[in-house]
Parts: sequence; C-alpha cells; structure tokens
Amino acid sequence: MSQQVYFGYGKAPVGLALDKLNRHGIIAGATGTGKTVTLKVIAEQLSLAGVPVFLSDIKGDLASITEPGSSQEVAERLKETNYDNFETRTFPIELWDALGENGIPIRVTVSEMGPILLARLLGLNDTQTSILNVVFSVADDEGLLLIDLMDLRAMLNYVGEQAKELKDIYGSISKASIGVILRSIKVLEDQGGDVFFAEPSLDIKDFIKTNDEGLGMINILDAVSLYQTPFLYATVLLALLSELYETLPEVGDLDKPKLVFFFDEAHVLFNNAPTVLIEKIELVVRLIRSKGVSVFFVTQNPTDIPDKVSSQLANRIQHGLRAYTPKELKVVNAVADTFRQDVDSDIDLATTIQELATGEAVVSHLDAEGTPTIAEKVMVYPPMSKLSVIDSQVKLQVINHSTLLDKYSEAINRESAHEQLNNLIEEREQALIQEADPDTAKMEPTKEDTSQDRIKELEEKLAKQIKESKSSSRKSNRDTSMDRFTKNVMSQVGREVGRIVSRSILGMFKK
Ligand SMILES: Nc1ncnc2c1ncn2[C@@H]1O[C@H](COP(=O)(O)OP(=O)(O)O)[C@@H](O)[C@H]1O
Ligand SMILES: [Mg+2]
Repeated sequence: MSQQVYFGYGKAPVGLALDKLNRHGIIAGATGTGKTVTLKVIAEQLSLAGVPVFLSDIKGDLASITEPGSSQEVAERLKETNYDNFETRTFPIELWDALGENGIPIRVTVSEMGPILLARLLGLNDTQTSILNVVFSVADDEGLLLIDLMDLRAMLNYVGEQAKELKDIYGSISKASIGVILRSIKVLEDQGGDVFFAEPSLDIKDFIKTNDEGLGMINILDAVSLYQTPFLYATVLLALLSELYETLPEVGDLDKPKLVFFFDEAHVLFNNAPTVLIEKIELVVRLIRSKGVSVFFVTQNPTDIPDKVSSQLANRIQHGLRAYTPKELKVVNAVADTFRQDVDSDIDLATTIQELATGEAVVSHLDAEGTPTIAEKVMVYPPMSKLSVIDSQVKLQVINHSTLLDKYSEAINRESAHEQLNNLIEEREQALIQEADPDTAKMEPTKEDTSQDRIKELEEKLAKQIKESKSSSRKSNRDTSMDRFTKNVMSQVGREVGRIVSRSILGMFKK
C-alpha cells in the first residue's frame, strides 16, 4: 500500500495517499473553521515524509511551524482523535518575501512573468493587453531583455516610437494606450513591483529541498503585507506555479510528489479573472501533475473556484460552512453534491457540513485504485508545532541562518539598453502621459507647438539611440545563444535566451 499522510481520525486514522497527491486537492471552509491548522498538519506530515512544501502565510500563523507546540493545549483533541504517539516538535522552514523585507527575496523578471499575467496585474483592457503582447513579441524578435519594470517602460516607449513600422504586422498602436500602460506600471511600482521584478530571479529548484535529516523543507511566503494587494499576491503565486511548470521535467506518476504547493485565499485568483486567464490556470493545474507537483487550493467558499479547475481537485477537505440564507444553503448543497456519498446512508451531507465543529471536516480522497472514497466526517489532528504566530526573534534567526541568503539577498542590476536611454525616456514618458490624460499629468508650462516639437525631437533622438543599442545588444545576444548551443554554456544572458526559446514552445502565460 502506498504511503499515507495521516491528518485526522474518522472511524480510523484518515490519510492522503502520497502517490495520489498529484491529483490535487482543496481545503475549504468558513473563516475560523480550521483550514490553516489542517494545512499545517498536512505540511508537517509531508515534511516528515521528505516532501518539500510551499505555502503562503497571510496571517503570520504558519511560520510558527518551526516552533514546538504544547501537548497540554491540545490534550482534549489528542483524546478525541485517539492520537497515542503524539510528540511536539519543530520543522525546517525557509522564509520568503516578494517584497524583500521579511524573508529571502523572491524576484521574477518581467519576461518570466509574461504578458497575460502582467496585463491582469496592471488592470489593462483588451486593447492595452494586445499592445503589451506586441511589446513582448518585439522584445523577443529584437533580442532585448525584459528584466525589470524600467526595461518594460523602455520597450513600451520603443514600440510607441516604431508604431508606424509595426502597424503592418501588429495593427495600430495608440500613444494614448501606451501612456495608460505606463501609468499603471507606476502604480505597480508603488505597490512593490519595483522590488519584485528584478534579478537574481528565483531559481524555483530552491523550493525543492530536504534538510540534513531528510525532512522536506517548508517554504513559507510571508504574505502579510503582500496580501494587502490581493492581485499582486495572486499573480506572484501564479507566476511561481507557471515557473514550476516550465522548469521541471516530465516525470509521470511518482511514489510521492516533488513539491506540494498550497494556494491560500485562492478565491482572489479567480475574482473577475478574464476567461483566457482561467483557461490558462486550468491548463497549468492539469499539466503540472505530470511534473510531480501537487496543488492544494485553500479557500472559504469552494464554489469560488471555477468548475473546470475544481473538477481536477480530487482530494477534498471541507470544513464547516454556515448557511443563513437560501442562497447560502444552495452553496452548501452544491458543495455536498461534489462528494461521493453512500447511497444507502441516511446521513444528510449538507447538514453535516453545516454542523461541523472547528477542526472537523468532511473528507473524500483517492484510494489506492484512484477512486474517490465515500465522504466521511474527520476530526483533524492537532499540529505538533505551535498554534499561534511565530516569535519575531525566531523569525529573524531563520532568515539570518538561511543558506540562500548569499544567493538572493542583494539585487543585481545588469547593464541593459534602457539604462543608457533612461533620462531621455523619462522625459518622453511624461509627454505621453500628458497626451493620454492632461488632467492628471504634471503640466509643463510649455506652449502646445513647442511641446509637439520637443516630442518630435526626442523621438528622433531616441530612435537613433535605440537603433545603436539594439544592434549592439542583438549582436551580444546572438553570440551568447550560439555559445549556448555549441558549448552548452549557460551564462546569465544565455539563460535568458533559453527562456525566450522555451517560452515560444510551451509558454503558458507568455503568449
Ligand atoms: N486541528 C486543530 N487542532 C487544534 N486546534 C485547532 C484545529 N483546527 C482549528 N483549531 C483552532 O481553531 C482556530 C482557528 O483555526 P484556523 O485554522 O486558523 O481557521 P481558518 O484558517 O479556517 O480561518 C485555531 O487557531 C485553533 O485554535
Ligand atoms: Mg486561515
């Protein structure tokens, strides 16, 4: 029989089969019903089984998994779950932070993020999104590197510049739209995007580690501040998932997953998401299975997750849901219907779900044959680690002792075309923003005709400089990509070129 991760007690200990975890899962339930603790208990068991875990910490109550719990605190539950060999203990964690303050910085390049995710993050409409697509295509064609938001600005300006030449291939590109995109980039920068979009970008393999004792590393993204901007939060997690998908090789079915990825507060991912994004998410979730990555969505209301995604979540843990209105009751009934039920039983699952106590859940998982088990009521075990928030001293120690600190602590800024053009671009950008929306832009006390002359003059200067920098950067990129294929040397630039190549073959969010 395959190895199980036991997390609670029904009529007997209840576990999830490690070799079925790649069929994904969901942990749902109203606030305060026990989702986070359940996640913690499963993460502990996975770590003990040598499986690394990624999770995001929105309330700051997950990182305490690295501190020991107290058996007195959970004595009652130990009795109720027939848990005999309980021991409190600590678990190895790595703390990450996309905003670079409370953990090892997680950075991603604009190119890795791709236009679809970026457009969503910037709140762009269809027209603006298609311009962003043009920007990525042109950058690919010209071998220009999109690393940080400065590069993206430079490229936007460049595309605006070349609008006439690009019209035949890509259709018309309005300067007003470019102005709008530039402004939304500014907003993203203010939210912390300038820290997140940078190098060294995360090597996703650093998530997939075990410690000296063979325990799976528990990677925790500090999302306390990040979650204040839910779109950015959702995008960061989605970018990590897509990066995992693109980086890891096909492995088929494994005895245990390479990584289990928990997506907490997953509803923010799907709120107002355009169909194209939901389709991509569905695809990534489906295909990442064969890469040995298991995804668990954690959410309050399971109906927040689109059907096509939800139908792929085979391991289901449903905590309590309350129903005070007919509409809420409908939700509970719909949720109950997603479970396999015993036809002869007179237990009403919808009622059971409404009456679940804290730390109790209705559970269905895949058995050894891959068939969903009949729904059963389970009391979740208490965690072996601490229940409340992490001690701030302990948190500092974890960060300061991380072996990844050297690799990621300092941002690097590679010399790229935009740097030489920077001053010029800023001036131009101001002019474009002003053109798009004269009310919010800083008004320069220039006469209209002189400002038009100024733009023209800048445009010419810019075009000339870009042409020069383009021919030199194109040359260096070609050389490096030759190196890559002939000598198989993966230099930094080669890595970037490699990404561009792979993006055009299997890029998920990148086309
Ligand atoms: N399995 C459990 N063992 C011990 N205490 C639990 C368990 N599940 C829930 N609790 C208690 O209930 C509280 C709320 O649970 P939590 O997981 O934070 O809810 P949610 O994430 O659904 O909002 C916890 O702080 C803890 O005190
Ligand atoms: Mg919670």
